Amino acid sequence: MTITTTQSGAPIPSDDHSLTTGPDGITALHDRFLVEKLASFNRERVPERNPHAKGGGAFGEFVVTEDVSKYTKAALFQPGAKSEMLLRFSSVAGEQGSPDTWRDVRGFALKFYTTEGNFDIVGNNTPVFFIRDGIKFPDFIHSQKRVGDSGLRDADMQWDFWTLSPESAHQVTYLMGDRGLPATWRHLNGYSSHTYQWINAAGERFWVQYHFLSRQGVEAMSPDEAEKLAGSDADYYRRDLFEAIAKGDNPVWDVYVQVMPYEEGKTYRFNPFDITKTISKKDYPRIKVGHFTLNRNPKNFFAEIEQAAFSPSNLVPGTDISPDKMLMARVFAYPDAQRNRIGTNYNQLPVNRPHATEAVNYQHEGAMRFDYNDPSIPVYTHNSLGGPQPDAAAAGEGGWETDGELIRAAATLRSEDDDFGQAGTLYREVFDDAQRERFFAVLVGQRGALTRPEVIERFYWYWTQVDANLGAALRAAPSDAGASAEPVGVAE
Ligand code: HEM
Repeated sequence: MTITTTQSGAPIPSDDHSLTTGPDGITALHDRFLVEKLASFNRERVPERNPHAKGGGAFGEFVVTEDVSKYTKAALFQPGAKSEMLLRFSSVAGEQGSPDTWRDVRGFALKFYTTEGNFDIVGNNTPVFFIRDGIKFPDFIHSQKRVGDSGLRDADMQWDFWTLSPESAHQVTYLMGDRGLPATWRHLNGYSSHTYQWINAAGERFWVQYHFLSRQGVEAMSPDEAEKLAGSDADYYRRDLFEAIAKGDNPVWDVYVQVMPYEEGKTYRFNPFDITKTISKKDYPRIKVGHFTLNRNPKNFFAEIEQAAFSPSNLVPGTDISPDKMLMARVFAYPDAQRNRIGTNYNQLPVNRPHATEAVNYQHEGAMRFDYNDPSIPVYTHNSLGGPQPDAAAAGEGGWETDGELIRAAATLRSEDDDFGQAGTLYREVFDDAQRERFFAVLVGQRGALTRPEVIERFYWYWTQVDANLGAALRAAPSDAGASAEPVGVAE
């Protein structure tokens, strides 16, 4: 028999009875077993992620089957390389207990445990985003969550923000289409959405976008089915993934990149650093890199999924960010969020610490460095004792030219940049007839949930900019003709 112990390893006398003065008396404060058990219980929760609170994930292996070494020197992308990895799926707006099948964008967060340190890509199941400057992000998320007084979600608030932020149109078109309700997490594609940077062994730089294409196919769920599941199985996606892997039905994604030579980034017809735009596959076709397979469920959901800390700042040699204003804000935001959410020691927890390398530096003592370096390493750099040294060549940071004055302004528009063009193309040329029909029904349902006349008017204006016929048809449709009139985040 294994004997239960305190945190300091001493045997526990009872898990049934507190220490009291006689059978009916007062509980003793010095019952150290009771006090420790309650203290531990009181600390069981860390705050949920704000946003992307509800999710689930699994571990796997990434294998490079092609040769992209002329674009990047990163060890994880070299031919034949294999890396252990973690993928967490999520919804954006709902809280930890919210139903999986509320309409939402789905998070697709990857961590690769590489031989050069951890490399993360924190993307979504759509190739674009709602806004293009990180300074708007808190307002965007507030508008999708709950109003201050009632604590309710609110369609007027969501659409007020979107229609006053017309750069959202492309992503909202994706969200109201089939991608807003995937059949399962296994049946969706992932995207970096941002343009990142690759650097090859010769120091040449490229702009890249990552695409992760599901071998299970991309499938959607009907709003009716989603509504039913929201009531009967709130954890439907989480269950589906866990059960599939438990029975050996391991899902696979093929990994592709779009690669743009560095100089072409300056003149491309759409600003490649504007996350509301896609880079045309006709101009820059997808290049295959390899694939990954999810093959291992977490052993402990809290330790391995809840405490997992993904961040666009986790980069390795041969990779870097780009001058995308959202991405630059994210590089600050995630480690700050995680020091607060998980605790300042989050990088030393098993799921976040590098597996194939060790953290070696002169950071010293306190919660951010509760373990210790090899005692032969001095506690200061600029030492004459042969301590570790930085290596600019090995780290191989990318970069870009910047000019000028510090200002607050929108990025310069390129020849084909506008807020609505790509949304219109998605609606007219990418969606098929059946998808357009479902999309229309969802929008009519959304329209039915709006109450403020100025928001309703702006709703028609917004969709008219995307497509004049769509705007007119929405205006003409009876408001009860669509999917049920619930705000986004509630299954239709
Ligand atoms: C400047 C804009 C953004 C800010 C400030 C921001 C901030 C955050 C924060 C604070 C979290 C919670 C992190 C944690 O507690 O571990 C988070 C999670 C997440 N964000 Fe963002 N975000 C931004 C834009 C984006 C974009 C553009 C994408 C997708 C392309 C994205 C995808 C995700 C995903 C997938 C998660 C969940 C990661 C996980 O599974 O742990 N975010 N974001």
